[in-house]
Amino acid sequence: MSLKRAKITGVGRYVPEYVLTNAELETLVDTNDEWIRSRTGISERRILKDPEKATAFMAEKASREALEEAGVDASEIDAIVIATVTPDYIFPATAALVQKRIGATKAYGFDLSAACSGFLYALSTGGMMIESGRAKKVLVVGADKMSAIVDYTDRTTCILFGDAAGAVVLEEADSGGLIDFVHHTEGDEDCMLYQPAGGSLRPASIETVQNRMHSLRQDGRSVFKKATEGMADVSLEIMERNNLKGDDVAWLVPHQANLRIINATARRVGLSTDKVMVNIDKYGNTTAATIPLCLYDWKDKLKNGDKLILSAFGGGLTWGAVYLEWNK
Ligand code: ACO
Repeated sequence: MSLKRAKITGVGRYVPEYVLTNAELETLVDTNDEWIRSRTGISERRILKDPEKATAFMAEKASREALEEAGVDASEIDAIVIATVTPDYIFPATAALVQKRIGATKAYGFDLSAACSGFLYALSTGGMMIESGRAKKVLVVGADKMSAIVDYTDRTTCILFGDAAGAVVLEEADSGGLIDFVHHTEGDEDCMLYQPAGGSLRPASIETVQNRMHSLRQDGRSVFKKATEGMADVSLEIMERNNLKGDDVAWLVPHQANLRIINATARRVGLSTDKVMVNIDKYGNTTAATIPLCLYDWKDKLKNGDKLILSAFGGGLTWGAVYLEWNK
């Protein structure tokens, strides 16, 4: 049996209509547009306002669009992997809800928790399913309703995050496709970036609610330092082991957490800013959704044969990179 690589044959996304601007954030916390733009690169982000809708809703929308572009019927999908840290429920998995809603009748599905690196972990997992010959068509989604776990009284975090979903369909490739990946994990026992309550260690109680422990907390400065090193290191690691120089790479597709982290990564790997996908200004940090949102926004510019380096850093701590050759 000859091993086949996986390639992306369809990209979809969903962003909510409501635009939360820096000006509106100025009315919620002690911050200002100039600080947010110069420290993060973010001008606005999207928020899913409807309390009856959450991550599965956005993931379903993005999945439907990706399937349509790929020309694949949901009933042909073998597996669904959804990266999220904001599932609708602890269980059932968001992937199970999406499986039912899109009518992926023969697919099995599961959620994967790797925060901002989630989409890359999910992409390589889906890729390996196809390489192994166990699956022919896999739906990979990155989706997060970050507004559900953001504390809008904490100016150090509420300015950063937005809600969105991105999805890709993976199918067998005759050439190109997903060539390599590198992933790393370093358990964050110091709680640099985490959600203190809601898991089995600290289930919901009056105390956890009163202390706002169901919201994300971050030691911004420490995470910034780790993210700047980690994203650049892992991008270089995958480039070096595939004998790639900056000139060989058509696009760097970085996780969108902070424009300063993105620019530092681009400098370290030797890529000029015109070869770096950046849309953090419009959406902020949408956690697992940032990388597929970039692929979606740039899809008309991508040419077959383009070499792409996707890289991310996030909670866990997790970081990783994927090398793929665009071939649609
Ligand atoms: N508006 C105005 N001032 C602010 C704000 C704000 N929104 N937030 C913080 N400040 C103040 C601070 O209080 C501090 O004041 P002080 O010097 O008087 O103490 C000053 O601005 C500088 O604060 P820093 O934390 O040093 O600011 P920094 O330049 O580090 O930017 C930021 C903060 C944007 C959070 C940055 O640290 C960052 O991007 N961190 C990494 C985020 C990241 O990559 N997360 C990983 C992915 S997320 C995930 O996985 C779910």
